[in-house]
Amino acid sequence: MSKFLIRTFGCQMNVYDSERISVMLINSGWVETTDAAEAKLIIINSCSVREKPLQKLFSCAGRYLPYKKNTGLRIFITGCVAQQLGKDILEKAPYIDGIFGPGSEYMIPDIIQKGIFPFVSNETDFLEREEIFPASSRGNYFNRHTASVTVMHGCSNYCSYCIVPFVRGREISRRSKELIDEINLLCDNGVVEITLLGQNVNSYKDPGTGIDFTDMLYEIAEKTPVQRIRFITSHPKDFDEKLAKSFSEIPQLMPYLHLPAQSGSDRILKKMNRNYTLSDYLKKLELSRKFCPDIALSSDFIVGFPGEKEADFNLTMELVERADYDVIFAFNYSPRPFTKSFKLKDDLSTEEKLLRLNKLLDLQKKKIKEVRHRYLSRTVKVLVENRSPKSNSFMGRTEHNLITHITDSTEKDIGKIIDVKITEILENTLRGEKNENC
Ligand code: SAH
Ligand code: SF4
Ligand code: F3S
Repeated sequence: MSKFLIRTFGCQMNVYDSERISVMLINSGWVETTDAAEAKLIIINSCSVREKPLQKLFSCAGRYLPYKKNTGLRIFITGCVAQQLGKDILEKAPYIDGIFGPGSEYMIPDIIQKGIFPFVSNETDFLEREEIFPASSRGNYFNRHTASVTVMHGCSNYCSYCIVPFVRGREISRRSKELIDEINLLCDNGVVEITLLGQNVNSYKDPGTGIDFTDMLYEIAEKTPVQRIRFITSHPKDFDEKLAKSFSEIPQLMPYLHLPAQSGSDRILKKMNRNYTLSDYLKKLELSRKFCPDIALSSDFIVGFPGEKEADFNLTMELVERADYDVIFAFNYSPRPFTKSFKLKDDLSTEEKLLRLNKLLDLQKKKIKEVRHRYLSRTVKVLVENRSPKSNSFMGRTEHNLITHITDSTEKDIGKIIDVKITEILENTLRGEKNENC
């Protein structure tokens, strides 16, 4: 049987798409491997949200090139760079055999069979298609306890710096009936926790019934046995009281909210086309804490957007100081083709951007320690997922989405939600021991 290997860059959506590509190949008789030397097909699922992941794609593909010598290996590129660069990929890497933009991955088995190489998909109708992949049966293949489910494809927000709407198309919601079936199938196969994915889940709308995202959360809680529900990402402009309230009414909904601010400066937020002000954003944080006082909040920030002055950056620092996030992700601005801000002068030097980025990350490091102190000595519920690296014990995630190493855990705990008493706050994770008396 022929073997394939799949490498995934980028966001959870790509992870989800890679799983579905794997299922499709397994259904056509392929076997998955992690060893490039024995693969007949290598797929690199790419990301183009910043220049760095795009570069990584080419260095990754180059590493696989030597394996092509004797084996008849084929290398395919899927994902966002495939859509962004299309056949131009062949100029940089002429040894690539197939380029499939998001929505055309279903063609892979057929193209292999027909042996048309190099193949470049010119599918643009993914923008219109209701369902990008055929109904999923992936629940049978992945032996694990957490899974993601994409609830919508694409994005129609057009933040001025962001390439996603151009490479993923406009926003298309999947039918809730199909989502419920998919979650039930995952649960039948041992999944305990699901993460619902979308670039802006708050604007989800079932194309048939018209129900919104919050109503769908209630439906999932009612119609599936899933024990934990999370979702990413909520756009602050659309995060409303109805959704905030659901945190207090749906016990399965975990107390974790990713609400990306991007900047603390109204001037920059406007240039970014985010459609909210700092004050609007702070109100949304308040709203989430009103209904879920102990919620863990996280955010993304872009540092060094064109025209960002020291004063704008300081407003971002102030926001991080006062918001008490459990986690932040911060990135240097990276100009992307097709976007509105691409035409603006990227006027900050790389050094200045790095200086600001490090300042922000230093502040966050200090803040995280303070914020996470609240977990010390607390007994929390952890879904045990896998072995801790370099140790005999196991780890999992708390309800607040923090990775926790459980010193006295055993293999038998995998897949269970257990009580753990937190004994130490580490730099990125927590440590604790099983609390058998709770
Ligand atoms: N839909 C989500 C995020 C998708 S992209 C949202 O609206 O928040 C993930 C993150 O990448 C973004 O939140 C942003 O912080 C970052 N990002 C996107 N485009 C970028 C760019 N051109 N340069 C730097 N960071 C960028
Ligand atoms: Fe990009 Fe904005 Fe859409 Fe997020 S909401 S994917 S940042 S355009
Ligand atoms: Fe990257 Fe595409 Fe996701 S650009 S962040 S993989 S939607």
